[in-house]
Formats: sequence, C-alpha cells, structure tokens
Amino acid sequence: MISNFIKMFKTIILAFVFIILLFSFVTCETFYDKGKEFSLDESEVVTPFKNRMFENNKTCRDCHTLIYDEFEKSMHYKATVFRDEIHKAVWEDHPNFKNKKQYKCAQCHLPSADNIESFMEGDAQAFPDINNQSQNEAVSCASCHRIKSIEKHRLANRNLYNDKLTTYYGISTGTSPAHQTKDDVKLYSNGKVCLGCHSHRENIKDYVVCITDEYKTKSFKTCVTCHMPVLPGSGTSSKMDTKHFFHGFAGAHNNQEMLKKYVEYKAVKISPSEIELHIINQASHDLFLHPLRKSIIKIALLRNGKVVHKFKSIEMERILKDEKGIAGCTNATREVKNTLIKGEEDRIISLNFPLKANDKLQVEYGYYLVKEPFVKILNLENNQEAFTYKIFKKEEVAIK
Ligand code: HEC
Ligand code: HEC
Ligand code: HEC
Ligand code: HEC
Ligand code: HEC
Repeated sequence: MISNFIKMFKTIILAFVFIILLFSFVTCETFYDKGKEFSLDESEVVTPFKNRMFENNKTCRDCHTLIYDEFEKSMHYKATVFRDEIHKAVWEDHPNFKNKKQYKCAQCHLPSADNIESFMEGDAQAFPDINNQSQNEAVSCASCHRIKSIEKHRLANRNLYNDKLTTYYGISTGTSPAHQTKDDVKLYSNGKVCLGCHSHRENIKDYVVCITDEYKTKSFKTCVTCHMPVLPGSGTSSKMDTKHFFHGFAGAHNNQEMLKKYVEYKAVKISPSEIELHIINQASHDLFLHPLRKSIIKIALLRNGKVVHKFKSIEMERILKDEKGIAGCTNATREVKNTLIKGEEDRIISLNFPLKANDKLQVEYGYYLVKEPFVKILNLENNQEAFTYKIFKKEEVAIK
C-alpha cells in the first residue's frame, strides 16, 4: 500500500519535472538570446528608442582592412536613401514622406543615427539628413557588433544595444588597444543576430509584407553560414589569421554567385518523353523574397551541345493588392499570388519532349530587382540596376 503510494508519488514528481523542462525548453527557444533582456510583448513596440553614439566605420578600417573593404561594397553600407535609389524611391512613395511625417525606416536602415529617437518616437518631422555623419554610417560595423539582444514584436523585431561605446560582441574575448571584445552574447555564434531587422515586417495596413524567419531549417545552416561565408585572409590586420567572415553580405544586389550552390538542379527521366526537373532550395527562406523582385526559370533541351527546344519560361513572384488593385509593400493588404520557391522546397517542374541518349537540360534562374509595373510607379526608369535582368545560376544538367 505504502510502496504503491511512493511509486505514484515518484511518477507524479517525474511528470512534473518533465513538464517544467519541456516548458522551459519551449520558452527559451522563443527568445533569441537566452538569459538577456527581452520583452514578452508581441503586439506593439513598447520600450522607447534611446539616442546613442556609435564609433564610425572608418575607425575600424586600420585594423580590419579586409573586412572594411568588403563591407563598403555591401548593401548594409548602402542601406540609406543617400546610397540606395530603390530604397529612396519606395520611401518617397510612402504616405509618411508625402505627409511630411518621420522616417521610421531608420529603425533598420539607419540604426547608427545619433537622432534615432526623433525618427522613431519624438519629432514628427524627422527626415534623413545627408549632412549628418552618423546617418551616413548606415548599418554600421559598430551598430551590428553592439546588439546585445533582440526583442520580438508583432510589427517588426527590435535590436537592443549595449551602452558601452567600445565594447563589441563576437565569437572571441579579447582586448585590443582599440576596444574590448566579448563572446557572451550567443546571437553571434548562433547566427541569429540578423533577426532584429530581417525576421519580418508589417506595413501601415497591418499586413506582414516580408518574412525571412518563417522556417525552421532542417540543416544547421544559419544566415551567417550562407551570407557571410568564411574566406581566406585575416579579418584583423595586426593579428594574422588565415580566414575571416565575408562582410560583403552576398544577396540579390551583390555577390549572388556565392549563393548559387545553395540552389541545386536535378533532372530525372520519367519516360522516353517526360522529365522532372527539381529545383532544390536549401535556403531557410523563399527565394527572391522581397516583394519588388521577380524571378524567372528558363529551360532548354540540349542535344550535342545545341539548343533543340525551348520550354515555356516560368515566372516566380508575389503579387500583392490593396483595395484599389496591384500594390507595393507599403499599401498591400493581401497576397493574390505567390509562386516563389519556398524555404527548403524541392520544386518539381514537369517537362515533355521526345528524348534521345545524352540529352541535357540547360537551366537558367534569373531575376529583376524591381519588376513592372513598379519600375514605372517608382520612377526608376533611369536606374539601370533596378530593371536589368540578372542571372543567378545557369547550368547544364544531365538527365538521369
Ligand atoms: C524591421 C526592419 C526594417 C524596417 C523598419 C524597414 N526595412 Fe526596408 N528592408 C529591411 C531589410 C532587412 C531589407 C532587406 C530585405 C531583402 O533584400 O529582401 C530591406 C529592404 C528594403 C528595400 C529593398 C531595397 C533594394 O535595394 O532592393 C526597400 C525598397 C525597403 N527596404 C524600403 C523600406 C522603407 C521605405 C521603409 C520605411 C517605410 C523600410 N524599408 C523599413 C528592413 C527594414
Ligand atoms: C550586419 C551585421 C554586421 C556588420 C554590419 C559587421 N559585422 Fe563583423 N561580424 C558579424 C558577424 C555575424 C560575424 C561572425 C561572428 C563573429 O565573429 O562575431 C562578424 C565577424 C567579425 C569579426 C571577427 C571574425 C573575422 O571575420 O575575422 C570582426 C573583426 C568583425 N566582424 C569586424 C567588423 C567590422 C570592422 C565591420 C565594419 C567594417 C563589421 N564587422 C560589420 C556581423 C557584422
Ligand atoms: C587598433 C586596432 C583596432 C581597431 C581600430 C579596431 N579593432 Fe577590432 N580588433 C582588433 C584586434 C587586435 C582584435 C582581436 C583581439 C580582440 O578580440 O580584441 C579585434 C577584434 C574585433 C572583434 C572580435 C570579433 C570576434 O568574433 O572575435 C570585433 C567584433 C571587432 N574587433 C570590431 C571592431 C570594430 C567594430 C571596430 C571599429 C569601430 C574595430 N574593431 C576597430 C583591433 C582593432
Ligand atoms: C540593423 C538592421 C540589420 C541587421 C542587424 C542586419 N541587416 Fe541585413 N539588411 C538590412 C537592411 C536595411 C538591408 C537592405 C539594404 C538595402 O537594400 O537598402 C539589408 C540587406 C541584407 C542583404 C541583401 C543584400 C543584397 O545584395 O541584396 C543580405 C544578404 C543581408 N542583409 C544579410 C544580413 C545578415 C546575414 C545579417 C546578420 C549577420 C544581417 N543582414 C543583419 C538591415 C540589417
Ligand atoms: C542555405 C543557405 C541560406 C541560408 C541559411 C539563408 N539564406 Fe538568405 N539567401 C540564400 C540564397 C541562395 C539567396 C539568393 C536568392 C535570393 O536573392 O533570394 C538568398 C538571399 C537572401 C536575401 C536577398 C533576398 C532579396 O530578394 O533581396 C536576404 C535579405 C537574405 N537572403 C537574408 C537571409 C537571412 C536574414 C537569413 C537567416 C534568417 C538567411 N538569408 C538564411 C541562401 C541562404
């Protein structure tokens, strides 16, 4: 009798411990940096933005020359209305610009601005100012390396920065004459430091226009693995190392060739006249996910190295609408079409053509940064880069 009671008691205690463990595991998963400051609020931005000072990018150049040179060509350095004409065009089409209200895009496009508070909370008329040096720093070295935790919010996540001008986070601890480096913020080693800006964003109509952090990757690749690959060359000039993390941030504008290995083509012969082409996306997010983009897959049949047949091209895009019709990111309230290749999807395209031995497919995956009708709507007709077709990956594929 007593031993039965003890057994039951033990089982209850075990179940209890199990539930507690499970619960703490689930909740820890939810926050990007376990043990640091975070907010449970997922609805609105609650904590105020504080003005803050960051060291300039140029301060880092002497000792981190290679990294600086890569960074200077990246979209992070060009994220401002002064250097990115596509961003400028969308801002100038935004109701806040038209109604002379503040530039809230600063949260992610100008995190280093010394007047971030005016942009985000205070001065209703705060606009980008090219004469303000801190705004020209864009998504700067210092601002990225001082993110100490990330708050989750419904509208968009939020970075929380440390208050120390020269304490930077990374994956090692050290003290150079210039600064202190610490490795106690896990966001840098687990690659989640990007999610304060890249996770998701809702527009003025409460519609989520962009989601990068939607999928749980089966592989252990993080944003950093794919977008900041480890390359030869020392990241610190005074401490000779053989490798560094690439700071050019491969993406749709720059260095797209670094990313093409994450999209694989495979052609399978189903019958003498049927082929299945697989486009296998290893990325955790949809391909060409910004709503302004459009990507196209062009497929041809190669016989003895010559094109003998061209299949119909396949266009992939998201079409957004508002009450009046086709809409951009700013006004969209719903999605009416989404043919993007999803995160980790194996997209199968069926093709029909009478095959001979050794036939191959030629597969070309290309894209436009800005598709029609937005080139016109946004007055980007003079911006060559915006409407020029770019090739992401072109390859001959054996049919097996
Ligand atoms: C929560 C962070 C965040 C906020 C706030 C934000 N953006 Fe962005 N924006 C991003 C990120 C991250 C990217 C890169 C995403 C990509 O390339 O798919 C981006 C990219 C863009 C692009 C594409 C630029 C190009 O060169 O192709 C445009 C346009 C843009 N944003 C406009 C705006 C405007 C206008 C605002 C303010 C009304 C704004 N964004 C506010 C994070 C943000
Ligand atoms: C968008 C965020 C971001 C920006 C901007 C950025 N970094 Fe990094 N940096 C990282 C991440 C992530 C790593 C890899 C993990 C780590 O070592 O912290 C890294 C690594 C480093 C490293 C150490 C490892 C190596 O590659 O040798 C140094 C040094 C460094 N960054 C300096 C800089 C400097 C200098 C700049 C500006 C020129 C800069 N970073 C801009 C995110 C950023
Ligand atoms: C006087 C030379 C010097 C200057 C200037 C300098 N650094 Fe460093 N930095 C170093 C040295 C040396 C190391 C390696 C030892 C250490 O970690 O302190 C380093 C390491 C780092 C790391 C460590 C990354 C990791 O993951 O291990 C980061 C981040 C970093 N620096 C960022 C910056 C930023 C941002 C700037 C500009 C605001 C900057 N540094 C300016 C010398 C410098
Ligand atoms: C402070 C906000 C912020 C953080 C943190 C941040 N990004 Fe970005 N990122 C942006 C913005 C804004 C853009 C869009 C710039 C533009 O096109 O005007 C962007 C653009 C990009 C692009 C597109 C480049 C291209 O060629 O189109 C890539 C890739 C990228 N970021 C990767 C990363 C990675 C990886 C990290 C984490 C190590 C990171 N970002 C952290 C704000 C941020
Ligand atoms: C397995 C590799 C892989 C991982 C992991 C990955 N990406 Fe990508 N990413 C790609 C590839 C491939 C592209 C090129 C196609 C494209 O531009 O959409 C890309 C493109 C992008 C772009 C440009 C999209 C556009 O339309 O402008 C941004 C921004 C970006 N990634 C951010 C991120 C962030 C943030 C993470 C982490 C949450 C991440 N990526 C994780 C492979 C990866």
